[in-house]
This record gives sequence, C-alpha cells and structure tokens, in this order.
Amino acid sequence: MTTPLRHLLALDQLSRPTIEALLDHAQALRPMALVGDPAHRPLAGRSLANLFFEASTRTRCSFQLAAVRLGADVLNVDMATSSARKGESMTDTLATLEAMGVTLFSIRHSIDGVVAELANVCAPTTRLINAGDGRSHHPTQGLLDMLTIRQNKGTDFSGLKVAILGDLKHSRVARSDLHALRALGTGEIALAAPAALLPDAATAIGCRIFENADDAIRDADVIITLRLQRERMDEGLVPSLEAFYNDWGLSPQRLLLARKDAIVMHPGPMNRGVEIADEVADGPQSVIREQVSNGVAVRMAVLEALGGAPATGRRALGV
Ligand code: CP
Repeated sequence: MTTPLRHLLALDQLSRPTIEALLDHAQALRPMALVGDPAHRPLAGRSLANLFFEASTRTRCSFQLAAVRLGADVLNVDMATSSARKGESMTDTLATLEAMGVTLFSIRHSIDGVVAELANVCAPTTRLINAGDGRSHHPTQGLLDMLTIRQNKGTDFSGLKVAILGDLKHSRVARSDLHALRALGTGEIALAAPAALLPDAATAIGCRIFENADDAIRDADVIITLRLQRERMDEGLVPSLEAFYNDWGLSPQRLLLARKDAIVMHPGPMNRGVEIADEVADGPQSVIREQVSNGVAVRMAVLEALGGAPATGRRALGV
C-alpha cells in the first residue's frame, strides 16, 4: 500500500481517500491480525519502539502484536525505569534508540503536541505514530473505531446517526473519532455530556449538542460511550459517580431508545457502572471486543503504510 504518510500524528491531517485506504488495508489484514501469517513479514529487519509515558493496555499491546505479526522487532521501553527518570530528554531518548537502528516509534504522552514536536527533530528515516497525546489526538483509535463501524454498518456513513456520550472535554478519542466521522461523511453526529464536560466549539464543528443523553441516543445507529477521565479532571466537574450514571450512563433502559440494531462502542478501559452498565458492555449490541481486535489490524495497516526505511543514515547510525 502506498500513502503520502511520513508520520501518523492526527487524523485531521489525512484526506478521506487516505483514511479509506488505511481502513481497506486494515480490513484485508484482519484475518492475519490475531494469528499472523509467516509468509507476510513486510517489516522483517525493522524495529518498533513503544514509548509510553502514560498507562496503556490495548494500544501498547496491539502495537507490539501488530509489529510482531509483520516481522518487526519490538522494544517495549519501560519509561518508569528508563533514563528518562534520570532527566534524559525525549529528544535524546529518541536519538539514542535511532542510533540502535529503531525507525518506528509509537509514543503516548500526557502533554498535548509532544509527538508532533518530536516529528520536527527526528531523523529522516524515522516514522512516528501518535499513540495518544494529552486531550488532543489518538489517531489509531479513531481508525479502529471507523473500521468497527464499517464492519457493522457498511462503508457509506451518510445515513448513520452516531451518538457520542460522556466525557467529551477530556477525550482525545472523541477528537480523533470526530475528525474521521466528518471526513467519512457521517449523516448526523450527536454529542451529549454535562455542561462541564462538553468539548470546545472547534471540536464540535458539524455536530449537534444535546442537553440530555436520551435525546442524543434516540434512533442512533452507533453509540460511542467515553471513559470518565478523572486523571485529567479538576475536582468537582462531576457531582458524584452515581449521579453521572443516572444522567449520562448507558443503561439497558437508555439503550432501548436507539435503533434496535444499534451498536455500542467504548474505547476502553471502561468504568463499569459509571459511563456504561455491565449488561450493555457485555450485551449483544456491544462491539467493544471487536474494537480491540480491530486495533491490531489497524496498527498493522499503519505500520505497513509508514514502513520505515532501514537505519542506514548517519544520524540513525550515530556517526
Ligand atoms: N483505548 C485505549 O487507548 O486504551 P489503552 O489506554 O488501554 O491503550
């Protein structure tokens, strides 16, 4: 697959044809995402480093599996015990790994824009993937969410109502989903959150804002519930978890307002009983596990698209 991608930093930098090409390729890779194919090793001889300065299960593990499935070597750098703890800068950490021949990096950080800043200083052969920065972007989550919608609702999004519910203010997943949903021509995008957790106006362009969850969900084809991100939240934004669940949580009763064939999505990790009920998360309309499986296929497609040149440059060799 050929795309003009150098790095994957944010979905708003991608055209609709590029997003669709990545999704098509991820769909083609889906059969080998969970079991691998020894005959398909396009990244043999390449190395991926996972640099996660924030916690992760799904994203980091699926980047690792995706790279292994494609024949690459993987370094899961433990940032808590790395020389970052001694004060080494991110730029020096990147350059150090480049000097060992690493050309592919997936990076997660709590500060907005960090990965884009590294893209300005990395070696020419290096390819960076934003695995989540602050509240800004989580592009591979956006892609895997779109792949999951396509698998369940088809490739034409123009007739779909997609409702996104919960902590929109702090969610990088919501921002990436919104970029992708708009790019793919989604018919209606409904956002619902308490006033303190609504996104800024720029994020919500092209969306309808609802003041209660029921109106947003009514007749929806797709419902995306978001994690309440207490680690990014000032005190007092939510009066209590019980009140949040009552007003904004996806309960079995609330789900009845959506279309009968609506699918339920959540990027994970879930706060069960806060933004989503157990019966819904584990129920027949939930595609949450499909999202996780699609994460491997999407990250394979992204790694293949970026590829990464062999480490032959002077900077990469450290000479
Ligand atoms: N959805 C997501 O980013 O999950 P992790 O934090 O487990 O990677």
